[in-house]
Amino acid sequence: LDKKVRQNNWEENNFINYKKMSENLAIVRARLNRPLTFAEKILYSHLDDPHGQDIERGVSYLKLRPDRVACQDATAQMAILQFMSAGMPSVANPTTVHCDHLIEAQIGGPKDLERAVNINKEVYDFLASACAKYNIGFWKPGSGIIHQILLENYAFPGGLLIGTDSHTPNAGGLGMAAIGVGGADAVDVMADLPWELKAPKVIGVKLTGQLSGWTAPKDIILKVAGILTVKGGTGAIVEYHGSGVDTISATGMATVCNMGAEIGATTSLFPFNDRMYDYLNATKRKDIGDFARSYAKELRADEGAEYDQLIEINLSELEPHINGPFTPDLATPISKFAEAAKANGWPEELKVGLIGSCTNSSYEDMSRGASIARDALNHGIKAKSAFFVTPGSEQTRATVARDGQLKTFEEFGGVVLANACGPCIGQWDRRDVKKGEANSIISSYNRNFTGRNDGNPATHSFVTSPDLVVAMSIAGSLHFNPLTDKLKDKDGNEFLLAPPTGDGLPSAGYDPGQDTYQAPPKDRASVTVQVSPSSDRLQILSPFSAWDGKDATDCPILIKAQGKTTTDHISMAGPWLKYRGHLDNISNNCLIGAINAANGEANKIKNQTDGTWGAVPAVARDYKAKGIKWVVIGDWNYGEGSSREHAALEPRHLGGLAIITRSFARIHETNLKKQGMLPLTFSDPADYDKVQPDDKVDILCTELEVGKPITMRVHPKNGETFDIKLSHTFNAGQLEWFKNGSALNTMAKKAKN
Ligand code: F3S
Repeated sequence: LDKKVRQNNWEENNFINYKKMSENLAIVRARLNRPLTFAEKILYSHLDDPHGQDIERGVSYLKLRPDRVACQDATAQMAILQFMSAGMPSVANPTTVHCDHLIEAQIGGPKDLERAVNINKEVYDFLASACAKYNIGFWKPGSGIIHQILLENYAFPGGLLIGTDSHTPNAGGLGMAAIGVGGADAVDVMADLPWELKAPKVIGVKLTGQLSGWTAPKDIILKVAGILTVKGGTGAIVEYHGSGVDTISATGMATVCNMGAEIGATTSLFPFNDRMYDYLNATKRKDIGDFARSYAKELRADEGAEYDQLIEINLSELEPHINGPFTPDLATPISKFAEAAKANGWPEELKVGLIGSCTNSSYEDMSRGASIARDALNHGIKAKSAFFVTPGSEQTRATVARDGQLKTFEEFGGVVLANACGPCIGQWDRRDVKKGEANSIISSYNRNFTGRNDGNPATHSFVTSPDLVVAMSIAGSLHFNPLTDKLKDKDGNEFLLAPPTGDGLPSAGYDPGQDTYQAPPKDRASVTVQVSPSSDRLQILSPFSAWDGKDATDCPILIKAQGKTTTDHISMAGPWLKYRGHLDNISNNCLIGAINAANGEANKIKNQTDGTWGAVPAVARDYKAKGIKWVVIGDWNYGEGSSREHAALEPRHLGGLAIITRSFARIHETNLKKQGMLPLTFSDPADYDKVQPDDKVDILCTELEVGKPITMRVHPKNGETFDIKLSHTFNAGQLEWFKNGSALNTMAKKAKN
């Protein structure tokens, strides 16, 4: 295990550290003394402190050291801006950025890409220059979808990766634990902080038998989603095993892992096998395959490892499935689908079929899909539905262009879109139906929530394998079952489509296509990060100021929030998303959804300096301008919802000092600490009622110590001053974050010393 094997073909100095991983595992094994699942092996071999870490599945918080970070272009903006504010010269761990989310599908690949490059120029210029400056690999627009690029270039068996996108688990197809996170987590790892994850439970899925005919790898996850539902995987890693695994290609395994996000799983994994070796070899990483073989016994579960839950699927009996509409866990086998469509009144006419996306755009997917399209063309017929193809990467696009599959799809009536997310993320200028008009579409994507693809809440969106998308598009009807129903050829003669066939890997090797990668330059010092001062989408962040070492006195309560206050109430999404790289602009949504206990209204609070009523962000800005620190009073489970770091950045930016609640959602509490704020809870939750919106409070910050409550002195508007105890969960390291102004300031300080 001493060999120096590079993590990938792009970076000279990043190596796979199986030696360290096996040493860490040996320490943990000696402590736990029981067989381990593969998921546990990956996590425990990446522990920051294998000797001291508490380890209990579903209970402990693991501090981990991931091998890599990946960001897509929408989430990368604030992550990189925050990282920059730390003033470090380069990222501490290997990182890549991928431009895939901002390209709208309109007429076809090249034109759509050109338009996107113009519209998003300032975002792309910023990301390209920041990546060059901070030693981050940059994948330009047109390179492909983040998860495909990771699988083709960066994923390796046994590795741990975090990515700022929910379908990051796709890399499980190469036996990597790849986990989707928020931007704040990515920043931590870029800045060398350990990354925290609640030790997941492990759900085992045992596969027996073998895939054949019309059944594709996608059907495994469509079936699992039906069993576990959209919540069933929450807090768990799904680990596939059993003899059936070897009948699935590496890219097929990636598809299964990718869509595991739809059941809420932390990630999904397959054990290292020969199919992965073949894929590594085909993507010019044979040395990694050989190295993985030498570590193979740790790249699968131990004999006798126990799962928290076990599901068994016999692949020989598995039917093709179609899931939807409106939710990915409504699973219907193809034999029952026409009946279900009739019974539920789903619009029969299939308007559009779409294949590709990060879920299903491998060489195998394209080859099998093209074999069905060719069968139709040989009978003189084409797609009845509109048909779109989104290649997952430039490499796959170039290869299927060379080998003829793309030409087949074009003859079939298909439009080839840019190598990007496109309609999967709603970047689709759809014109064939009006908003509100009920209609059906079918795709090989992963997510089909209301309005996701085209913004039309009446669109019935179904997800299935690319094979069924192609077949159903030929018939143009939801009532068609390609396994049993005949089609009519150009002369009106009936025929049955042949089951799909296709190579898993290109026999002539992959064609890399156009060069779409920008490596960090040797001389990074002279690079300037490009952000226009007049931009309304991007803004350079300055470090937050350090604590002044004093108690805070006479702080007004910006708002006493009552009832549910989620991250959506604190930092709304929707139209605000376009400002996610501009902290000052997006701060205009700060707490605008929270309900004011004083009047039961949202976004209407009293300015305590002059008695006028105004919007929450406006009053906060007024306090800030007057040099007044403010606090928020909150109810139970404050900050539940997403891991969105903006919900912590905004109150900090607007001059907030403390958020005082009955209780916090854990991730939001940590995010507040990271930004240098004080998340505090009433030691007696009933004290929430003692504080009134017009009171002023002193926060005795000088009392802060690990494990000890601090005092809040309340000065009621009319009445006697009284004290309340506030609890906190700061540990010693986190107290430094508060003192230095933020976690990033603390890391920057350490890096300088
Ligand atoms: Fe993009 Fe859709 Fe995947 S948005 S990352 S193609 S799930």
